[in-house]
Amino acid sequence: MFPIRRNRRLRTNEAIRSLVRQTIISPNDFLVPLFIVEGKGIKEEIASMPNYYRFSLDLLKDEVKLLWSLGLKSVLLFVKVDDKLKDNKGTEALNPNGLMQRAIKTVKDICPEMLVMDVALDPFSSYGHDGIVSGGKIINDATVEVLAEMSISHAEAGANFVAPSDMMDGRILGIREALDQSNFIDTGIMSYSAKYASAFYGPFRDALDSAPVDMVDVPKDKKTYQMDFANRDEAIRETEMDINEGADIVMVKPGLCYLDIVRDIRNTFDVPIAVYQVSGEYAMLKAAAERGWLDHDAVMLEQITSIKRAGADIIASYFAKDVVKLIS
Ligand code: PBG
Repeated sequence: MFPIRRNRRLRTNEAIRSLVRQTIISPNDFLVPLFIVEGKGIKEEIASMPNYYRFSLDLLKDEVKLLWSLGLKSVLLFVKVDDKLKDNKGTEALNPNGLMQRAIKTVKDICPEMLVMDVALDPFSSYGHDGIVSGGKIINDATVEVLAEMSISHAEAGANFVAPSDMMDGRILGIREALDQSNFIDTGIMSYSAKYASAFYGPFRDALDSAPVDMVDVPKDKKTYQMDFANRDEAIRETEMDINEGADIVMVKPGLCYLDIVRDIRNTFDVPIAVYQVSGEYAMLKAAAERGWLDHDAVMLEQITSIKRAGADIIASYFAKDVVKLIS
């Protein structure tokens, strides 16, 4: 016989579909990653990330104003560091007048309300690692000390949050204690809690020239600190540890391939969850759209909505500007 329930009634037209729609995307959902270079008048496209650019500080100002006018109120800053300034300990990261510190101040000068985040060693590391290298290994505790110093330096420059992306054990506690001891009690921590050793980071490493270098006694990949993509339960363990150590926001990274992890964490903890839709995910869609194989805007919106539907409160995405323009 005929079904009593007809679920299709709720899909009859756009009016009813929008009335029952569960997941709504808004500019409030986004963190915008920005790539920054030394120099003047520079806005250079990243080869493997079409329509995404590295900005010098003067042009960064215009970009930040544009983001704010679109309702995008948070940025993640990544700097491309001159090879001459790189060393094993990322010493340049502590330079109060370094590119990162000036970038933070530039954003804050032009837009005081803009939320500014990030902290990582790899753009400053001569070996392209997120930790100090010694004897062919990444040294955990010494790295945490450097990250804590970096965090203070970023907080001094005006960062609202530090967002350690290194996956060292104990770094959230180390950073929290250091910030508190320096009276930065209001500086938050967004922890890259479940960050997987992923091949999707390729274009990002191109953008910053930050890939692990090919040298004897330097690990070729990040598999001794970033998570094995075959593992699910470990993500809960990592996230729990970060929350206990004082993380205000936790993160899953990459995005699309890891939405099961996002939902696990959503169902287990009640802290805000960020998801990083990474550079390779961006490049993949751009490439397919360029060939006319996928409808760029439709797939972009589907992907972003899926990330939020899985449980993300915050989405770091290179598509942020495109999405906001599309939905406004
Ligand atoms: C490193 C860092 C990476 C990304 C963000 N922070 C690369 C890595 O871990 O090697 C990748 C982001 C992206 O691919 O968009 N601190």
